[in-house]
Amino acid sequence: MTIKIDGKALADEIVQRVANDVSIFKQEHSIAPGLAVVLIGEDSASAVYVRNKVRRAEQAGLRSIEHYLSADATQQELEDLIDDLNKDHLVHGILVQLPLPAHLSENRVIEAISPVKDVDGFHPENVGRLVAGQAALTPCTPLGCMIMLKRLLPDLSGKHAVVLGRSNIVGKPMANLLLQANCTVTVVHSRTQNIESLCRTADILVAAVGQPLLVKESWVKPQAVVIDVGINSVLVEGKRKLVGDVDYNTVFSKVSAITPVPGGVGPMTIACLMQNTLKAAQFQLG
Ligand code: GUN
Repeated sequence: MTIKIDGKALADEIVQRVANDVSIFKQEHSIAPGLAVVLIGEDSASAVYVRNKVRRAEQAGLRSIEHYLSADATQQELEDLIDDLNKDHLVHGILVQLPLPAHLSENRVIEAISPVKDVDGFHPENVGRLVAGQAALTPCTPLGCMIMLKRLLPDLSGKHAVVLGRSNIVGKPMANLLLQANCTVTVVHSRTQNIESLCRTADILVAAVGQPLLVKESWVKPQAVVIDVGINSVLVEGKRKLVGDVDYNTVFSKVSAITPVPGGVGPMTIACLMQNTLKAAQFQLG
């Protein structure tokens, strides 16, 4: 029997736990952990993410602050805003929604955020800590994937994990977290030869390439655990539909467990953002 991994239920559980810890935090510090989200431009997918983040923040008892900049905002305007948020004692976490409009430098924005408020875990200081195996704010999507994997397989030691994709947001931090959990890790990407046969050797397959339905039944090892990070909007018979990077319907019966899209990784990312915001606030006021 294949397990359909219920990311929504696990995310509810995490947000509930964060809410309990937030109420203790509020009693101790007379202030709620604050999360500032910055959205630049009108990207509709990003607007959906931001709405979900705001709703979850309310459930967790966090203070949520949104800043909307127009698509033609300058680098200086954005960095000035980040500077203000860095200094604001009511703000413990800062998230600038990516991708940015093409005229803005993502690297400069990421480096402008104070590492202690970097709830995305994208600042080079936090990336370095993650790679070195030191405690840090860890990127939310890979963190959510690890929580799901550890629920299913409490001991990941010695498993062969294949990560499809090498982005800074998912692929690279995911590979580092799996390595820290004593997996043998292979990262495959657009220039890799024999991707399909490498994927077929995976006990754990994490797909994060943004290519709808790329991973077919022939790509997976029987009884593998499959985590699908992809959220792709495709047209099916004239209607918009969200699908993952994995061809869920054909892969399902071959594997031991798989995340659906939607309802898998997505809700976990947001739950981990709430967890990171609390962690950042605890560190700053600790
Ligand atoms: N865009 C897609 N995923 C993410 C994320 O985890 N953090 C930020 N800041 N932007 C994103």
